[in-house]
Amino acid sequence: MGDAAGEIIASPSVPDSSKDSVGPNVPDEYFRTSRPDIVGPDVPDAPFPIKLSGPVQHGFGRGSKDLGCPTANLPDDSLPPMIDAAKTGVYYGYAQVTPSQGTSSSLSDQDVCVLPMVMSFGWNPFYKNERMTAEIHIMHEFKTDFYGYDMKALVLGYIRPELHYISREALIEDIEFDKKVALKSMARPEYEKYMSDPFFTV
Ligand SMILES: Cc1cc2nc3c(=O)[nH]c(=O)nc-3n(C[C@H](O)[C@H](O)[C@H](O)COP(=O)(O)O)c2cc1C
Repeated sequence: MGDAAGEIIASPSVPDSSKDSVGPNVPDEYFRTSRPDIVGPDVPDAPFPIKLSGPVQHGFGRGSKDLGCPTANLPDDSLPPMIDAAKTGVYYGYAQVTPSQGTSSSLSDQDVCVLPMVMSFGWNPFYKNERMTAEIHIMHEFKTDFYGYDMKALVLGYIRPELHYISREALIEDIEFDKKVALKSMARPEYEKYMSDPFFTV
């Protein structure tokens, strides 16, 4: 990290969510260059775990095209558990995609496993979105799209606030670091055990 440091700009114009924070007190350059690679306590604590579920929606498609990081969007009516309990930001946890009951599926056995994910929850200040979204990047290479399929997500921890970037490269660099943070943070036993939580389909 570091080359793109200083490319973040303060984001006072981000619309307010119920408990929004874009970290106005965090010196941006310091924040980007000194991020820890493990975040959160050793045992998830309140408000986690937060359970989300719904059919995967089409986003704007910029995640895969612009950022090399495909995201699966949850529908608006699945967001209240996050809105009620958490501020906007980047989170980690587990997700599982399953075909809707009674439909045939092009997903492989690996695709339907419980998999680690990172989630962007908020307004995507870089793209100046006008509505709040929950976009989940599952850390797994899917061979096919899975729009319309059911997705469950168990959110286990908070990584960082949403930030406003003036360069796509800096956003990509930080998302890559978010993925490392998520994997390392969830390698702790009290997080790993959520992979077999009854919330997910066996
Ligand atoms: C782990 C992760 C972190 C992200 N962090 C930010 C961020 O700090 N600021 C921001 O504006 N967007 C952030 N994004 C959101 C991307 O801008 C978003 O995924 C992109 O808008 C693609 O959306 P689309 O698929 O709906 O087009 C993040 C996305 C992910 C997966």
